[in-house]
Amino acid sequence: MRSAAFYAGQAVFICGSTGGLGQAIVHELCACRVRALVLSARREHILQEQRQYAAAHGVEVQICPGDFTDPKVRALAMSMAAAAGCQCLILAAGQVPAHARDSLEDPAAVEQIFKLNALAPLQFLYENADKFTLGTRIALISSQAALYPIPMLPVYGSAKAALSYAVQALQPQFAARRVKLTFSDGPALCRALLV
Ligand SMILES: NC(=O)c1ccc[n+]([C@@H]2O[C@H](COP(=O)([O-])OP(=O)(O)OC[C@H]3O[C@@H](n4cnc5c(N)ncnc54)[C@H](OP(=O)(O)O)[C@@H]3O)[C@@H](O)[C@H]2O)c1
Repeated sequence: MRSAAFYAGQAVFICGSTGGLGQAIVHELCACRVRALVLSARREHILQEQRQYAAAHGVEVQICPGDFTDPKVRALAMSMAAAAGCQCLILAAGQVPAHARDSLEDPAAVEQIFKLNALAPLQFLYENADKFTLGTRIALISSQAALYPIPMLPVYGSAKAALSYAVQALQPQFAARRVKLTFSDGPALCRALLV
């Protein structure tokens, strides 16, 4: 992550804030004295707890509960992020399909994992390309699984590889609009955010 001074006073949108990485980022950003957070994920009770935690640190929080694969949820999230003045957006929602060690993923997971891990973040970029203000930074969380074909993770890894590919291909077009796209496919996920 950038320095605490960079985040102080900023408003930040996080999708997938209720997971391990998201929770760590929320805590880190509160310590950095951000002005406001807009948090989104499906588990509303955790979003409510995060709102209380952040409020105790003097951070104003709005929550947008819902499934990020739903275009209505993405549209609401974007309008809330824009209204709050978020110029840092972190798209961290992701899912590893469940399966036994020696079996393939459930066939239904193939579609669901691509929808969440690849399509939804890309749709969010395309849907809102004209709405991001100059200087916006958007971090997309890929995975090391995108770099090497892992026999246990063919669906997860290929969805993340698609995301990494698309983000790199889109970087110049967004840069021309003064919007910076970053992504991380290595172990230093947090450090690579919003650089
Ligand atoms: N942990 C690792 O070692 C690792 C390594 C490389 C990359 N990553 C990537 O880093 C990101 C965060 O990982 P994590 O370890 O924090 O995973 P996690 O603990 O499983 O958290 C996943 C987050 O995604 C949200 N989410 C899942 N499905 C969603 C949906 N349909 N709509 C909206 N939100 C949804 C979850 O919230 P709800 O359940 O409340 O919706 C949760 O906030 C993921 O993209 C993951 O692929 C993780």
